[in-house]
Order: sequence, then structure tokens, then C-alpha cells
Amino acid sequence: MNNAQGLPLRQVNAPGKTLPPGPKGHPILGVMPEFNRDTLGFITRCRDYGDVVRARFLYVNAYFIYHPDDIEYVVSTNARNFVKSMSLRSNFFHRLVGNGLLTSEGEIWKRQRRLAQPAFHRKRISAYGDVMVDYAHRMITMWQAGEARDIHRDMMRLTLEIVVKTLFNADVSQDADKVGRALAEIVKPFASQATLKWILDNRLPTAAHRRFHREAQKIDDIVYRIIADRRASGLDRGDLLSMLLRAQDEDGSQMTDKQLRDEVMTLFLAGHETTALTLSWTWYLLAQNPLVEQKFHAELDEVLGGRLPTLEDLPRLKYLDTIAREAMRLYPPAYGLGREAIEDCEIGGFRVPRKTQVFMFQWVTQRDPRFFPEPETFRPERWTEEFSSSLPKYAYFPFGGGPRFCIGNTFAMMEIVLVLATIGQRFRLPLVPDQAVSILPAMSLRPKNGIHVVVENR
Ligand code: HEM
Repeated sequence: MNNAQGLPLRQVNAPGKTLPPGPKGHPILGVMPEFNRDTLGFITRCRDYGDVVRARFLYVNAYFIYHPDDIEYVVSTNARNFVKSMSLRSNFFHRLVGNGLLTSEGEIWKRQRRLAQPAFHRKRISAYGDVMVDYAHRMITMWQAGEARDIHRDMMRLTLEIVVKTLFNADVSQDADKVGRALAEIVKPFASQATLKWILDNRLPTAAHRRFHREAQKIDDIVYRIIADRRASGLDRGDLLSMLLRAQDEDGSQMTDKQLRDEVMTLFLAGHETTALTLSWTWYLLAQNPLVEQKFHAELDEVLGGRLPTLEDLPRLKYLDTIAREAMRLYPPAYGLGREAIEDCEIGGFRVPRKTQVFMFQWVTQRDPRFFPEPETFRPERWTEEFSSSLPKYAYFPFGGGPRFCIGNTFAMMEIVLVLATIGQRFRLPLVPDQAVSILPAMSLRPKNGIHVVVENR
């Protein structure tokens, strides 16, 4: 069967016990060199082998899964047969986030998710809307028309401040700021490597690794102290930490200090860079698409008429919502998901031996012409209700899916739209001419040398 562009809807493979096709790679290193040289190009080219592709990274057997139906099978319908991939279980990552939501499995994960979920309920997080707008507004009052800025740096700082404020509230913001900055520092050297490379590198006792462990200890000391102070005061400050502290399981049990520490670190790590990246790439796309930018401004003028946005405006900022969605289609902050098969299974008719590392790439599937006409074009208008409902569920999955679906997705969408609206009311951000904006696919999809813009009054 073909789609509107005449492309086959999916690869048909006789159900059997065969292994999928894929690139041979180097006799020892496998596809590692090619993957590290040009990650996004490599995972895109591999799709030419089919919807299920086998690639070997040294001694690690990996499958790349490209079709939405197969992605749904892995992350949702057959999620029980998969755990997070080994790259997330690296010493490095584990030292930082321990058994937090992102990395834990089984009963521990289930209980933690049950305890944390209410803290992310739309009603609870709506109180943070004002923080998001206030902080964005405070930031731009320092901006001068005509100056050049690295907008990615600004967005990173802003989302860090917002996560610090919403996690810990103001009383401890100095400490929390220190945690945030130290974290950003120590993540740098590791995050600049391709995720799969960690499988190897995190075993080597380099100086950078030693420094990392030292810094991690400092962060632990601060976070534990914040937790102890809060426990001692018994106050509910309405922030995420208070909610996590007070959360009780059905049997009345609460999180231990260690679990709280792990969740706090997880939220720090998962919660600010992803949102900052979406904002940065959105500014980049708006700067290159004047017609979209005009409609963006028209909606702001119509809905807000010059005043600052509030949470109540969100339902009316519909075009902004599609801008954010379309930006995350083209530049998904998490550009891949990884899982490991617990038992042998079958995907798309191919045999999947246990312990296979299964990767699904938002970067590739969300640019697949079978599902997105003119996939490289930034067109928020494509997100009509009709289009959204006709799309296979896992053709678009910037927040993952199934039981491990991003717990912060409502928080993130709220933040993205409110920050875009606050800044877009006052300024345009055209790109500094002649700059080469390139992508660094590290843990997430980063602009390698930032995104430099000129601040212009609207
Ligand atoms: C645009 C912003 C964001 C993007 C694109 C994003 C993306 C994702 C993705 C793809 C996953 C699934 C990972 C997997 O299945 O392996 C995930 C999980 C998670 N995210 Fe987000 N995220 C964003 C914002 C946030 C925010 C703001 C928070 C918290 C404040 C957050 C906290 C988490 C947590 C705790 C998990 C683990 C959930 C679990 O396994 O139960 N994320 N995120």
C-alpha cells in the first residue's frame, strides 16, 4: 500500500526468525566510527535498509526501529518486555540521577511514578505559570535593542531559573542556583559525546571522570541539606519539593531522603535543557520563516494586545501551540529513545534476541515523508485536528510514550508557550547574518555554537 506521495506505507516482511538487514561497519568497532562522525546523517541513511535495521556497536547489538507501529509496540503495547537501554544505565548517569524516575525500573519506578504524578497534575503546576512569565519578563528587561545575544544561552539560563524556583522556591534559590550551575558544568564533557559512546567511555577512569564524581558529591551535599531543612521546618511551600515530600503511597509510606534526592536531580536534568532547546530551536525557525513569524505576532496582538500572558490565555494561543509542536517535530530535544529487550521477541517480523539495544529516533521518524508531507518544511499549519488524528500515534513522539511518557510534558508545553509569548510581545530575534548554526546530537539535540540573534524591538 502506498501513501499520498506514492511511497510504500511500510516494509512488509514475512514473519520469520530472520535478523534484520543493516550496515556492516568496521570488523571490530562496527558502526561506531560512522555513528560518531555523523550521528544524524547515519541514523537517517540507515532507514534505507528498511523499517527495522541492525547495527553493531563494538560488542553491542543494536536495532534501529523506524516505523510508528513498531515504536508503539516497543514503548507501549509490549513495554513490559523492555527496560531502558544500557546507555542510560551508565555509571555516569546513575551517579547523577540514581534511581530517579528517568532511570529506575520495575516496582521502584512504579511507586515513584505513582508518588510523583500528582505533583505534575495540570491543576498543581498551573501555579507555576506566573513564575515562568515573571522570569522571562525579568530577563528581557535587561535586553537592549540592537545588541547581539546567544539566545540558546539565554534560554538555558531562563529554564534553569524556572526549574530551580518551581522545585525549591525562593528561600533556597542561592543553593539551588549553585546546584544548577555545577550540574551544567559537569554534564558538559560527557554530554558532548554521542550517547552510545558512553557505553565504552564511562568505564575509563579519566581525569574528567574523577572531577565529575567530586562535583557530584558537592551537589549531593547541597541537595541533602535542602531536604533536611525542609523536613525540619515542615512547611509546604507549594513547590515540587514540598509536593514530593508530602506524597504518600497507599500504605502511608513516603519517599526516603535518597529517593527525594534522586528525583530532585532527575527533574533538574530532565526538566530544563529539553525545554530550553525547544525554545532555542523555535526562535531559530521563526527567524527563518517570516510568514510564520507574522502570524505569531498577529496572534499575540489579538490575544494579548500588549499585556503579559497568563495561564488563562493558553487555550487562545493556538497558533503558538502549533509552532511549538512543529519545532519539536523538526528539532526534537530528545532525538532518540533507547530500550533493551528482556526476552527474545519479534519486531516487524524480525527476530529480536534478548539484550538487544533497541533505538527509536524522533529525528528520523518525525521527518519521514510517509507521514509528513514536505517533511523538511517548518509549517505549523500542518497541525490541524484532522491531520493530528489521522497520524499514526508514534509518527510524532517528542515526549516518548507508553508508561514512561514524559511526566513533565504539560509543564514543558506551558513554559514554552508562555515564554514565547512574553518575549515575542516585545522583541523580534533575527539571526546574526552569516553564522553557521550546526547541531550537536549529544544527550540532546543542541546548537553546537549557540544561536546568535540580534534583539530588535517589534
Ligand atoms: C520540551 C521539553 C521536554 C521534552 C522534549 C522531554 C522529553 C522526554 C522524553 C522523550 C521522555 C521519555 C524517555 C524515555 O522513554 O526513555 C521523558 C521522560 C521524562 N521527563 Fe521529559 N521532556 C521535556 C520536559 C520535561 C520537564 C519540564 C520535566 C520535569 C519538570 C521532565 C521530566 C521527565 C521525567 C521525570 C521523565 C521520566 C518519566 C518516567 O520514566 O516515568 N521532562 N521526557
